[in-house]
Amino acid sequence: MKHLVLGFGTLVMAATMAMAHGGVKDPLVKARMDLMVEIKDSTGVLGNMLKGKIPFDAAQAEAARLALLDHAKAIPAAFEVQATDPKTEAAPAIWTDWDDFVAKSNDMVAAVEAADASSMDSLRAGMGAIGASCKACHKSYRID
Ligand code: HEC
Repeated sequence: MKHLVLGFGTLVMAATMAMAHGGVKDPLVKARMDLMVEIKDSTGVLGNMLKGKIPFDAAQAEAARLALLDHAKAIPAAFEVQATDPKTEAAPAIWTDWDDFVAKSNDMVAAVEAADASSMDSLRAGMGAIGASCKACHKSYRID
């Protein structure tokens, strides 16, 4: 487990995420929210490169893409148990339409696998499909 080799940066990040979800009591709900925040952070790095907020760097972009790939693959396991919490935004339909939920997380895996982070242009094309995969799942399974 990578969490056994915590560096200082990871500790700071974990502390920040704990604060963001301070009101969440259920550990499984908190873990799946933290997974989504990690997904948002990797997407944010790629998005910031595309927007020119940080310089494009192919190695950094590929690292963010690979992190996103790991996290996308971890979605079904993070949601397998129907844990709940007053703060959850997870729709109960996840567990009644489980196969579709897994299919939507596989769509995200496929979009991240297909994305090519070697140049700004290819990354831009790939990010469109990745963003669409987030939206497709949130539309059905995340309550705002
Ligand atoms: C297969 C379904 C699925 C996919 C794909 C998915 N999400 Fe989510 N996401 C959810 C669900 C369900 C929740 C609500 C979890 C909860 O509150 O228990 C959520 C919550 C979130 C949250 C809120 C976390 C918090 O602070 O509580 C963020 C941010 C987020 N997703 C970002 C993303 C981004 C960005 C992508 C795409 C790169 C993505 N998600 C892809 C299902 C998905």
